[in-house]
Amino acid sequence: MNVTKIEFNSFRNIESEIIEFSDGINVIYGENAQGKTNILEGIYLFARGKSFRAFKDKELVNFDSNVAYAKMDFKSRDEETRLGVEISKSQSKKFYRNNVKVNKTSEIIGEFRAVLFCPSHLGIIKDAPSVRRKFIDVAISQLRPVYLKMMTRYNQVLEERNTIIKMNPQEREANEALIDVYSEELASLCADIADIRNEYIKKLDYWVKIFFNEMTDGREVPKITYESNGGEEDFENREALKQRYLHLLTDYKEREYKYGATLFGIHKDDLKIEINGRDSRLYSSQGQQRSLALAMKMAEGEISRESKGEYPVFLFDDVLSELDDSRKKYILSNIKNRQVIITACDRSVFENNECCHFINIKDGKKGEILNECIYSQESENGEISPETEL
Ligand SMILES: Nc1ncnc2c1ncn2[C@@H]1O[C@H](COP(=O)(O)OP(=O)(O)OP(=O)(O)O)[C@@H](O)[C@H]1O
Ligand SMILES: [Mg+2]
Repeated sequence: MNVTKIEFNSFRNIESEIIEFSDGINVIYGENAQGKTNILEGIYLFARGKSFRAFKDKELVNFDSNVAYAKMDFKSRDEETRLGVEISKSQSKKFYRNNVKVNKTSEIIGEFRAVLFCPSHLGIIKDAPSVRRKFIDVAISQLRPVYLKMMTRYNQVLEERNTIIKMNPQEREANEALIDVYSEELASLCADIADIRNEYIKKLDYWVKIFFNEMTDGREVPKITYESNGGEEDFENREALKQRYLHLLTDYKEREYKYGATLFGIHKDDLKIEINGRDSRLYSSQGQQRSLALAMKMAEGEISRESKGEYPVFLFDDVLSELDDSRKKYILSNIKNRQVIITACDRSVFENNECCHFINIKDGKKGEILNECIYSQESENGEISPETEL
């Protein structure tokens, strides 16, 4: 899968610009605060249906405008599709497929697939469980649109159930029957969602082991498992799993009333990540956390390729500058045969690498565009000098 071009109008600090991409490695470079991440944000909007960093859509609209537009052309196998979005400061955003408006944002999710890796993901191992849940939810949603529907419904029912749980005892008693109806639906959704998550996490574990083994020369063995309050096995037996969740939602209601929230269900799940049998959330070093995060992102791409028959687009936001030389080298030597769009302040990190398409960004506008193969060569005086092939 490849992005061929993206066009922006009044999108963040980009007034009006068309940016074209090549099939391999694209490097968007420039000084701080010029609009590099804004471009990735625009691309990823079409993968996730919302920004990966804006709290509200209106933040995406240029300070001096009321409406922003982004149109992106991408190729999946040999088919070209154009996705568009109109973001207004006063209305909800509208997506378009081949210039025809889509009814719901969820309709476009899964069409354009991308793996995003940004500096905040480097903390994924030690961050709160919600961060790891978000990682798998976003990844699975791109592969299985039905999963997104299940999650949306789950969150609606959860909210309704929590509203009743928070009521005063008299009001709650009057709504007791409704709690049971919601518990039944939640238990059923928990069984379906937990099964899909468990299947995904098993694949993640398989690929992370492979990447981590390469990164550490086999010295460290990671293990990722699903930590679910519905139990940690027998996910395929849907009825038994549903009954386990239903018991939790039925037997501990008094405790839930005390806390004012639903205490059991897939919204409490986590990933258990170990290295050589020890819990990484507690014991991993900075370097191990970074290697794990990197391996998880690479694994996400492999699972997407296995499931859809082609690689997603890889979006790396300034992440290379955060990695040490050996991990940088590892990532650059492992991103072949796919499209990668990387942002960086400095181009020099790409010396000695494959041919790159360089796009300079300054003040929301593209500057110099270069297609270069830079191979560093030791010159006679021992200095590194780039050799450029246009
Ligand atoms: N709605 C908006 N309207 C206009 N400008 C905006 C809007 N939102 C953000 N900006 C500006 O966009 C600029 C570029 O942001 P971006 O995050 O893309 O920078 P960057 O090139 O990735 O920088 P860095 O290297 O520091 O990560 C910032 O100066 C920011 O103030
Ligand atoms: Mg940035």
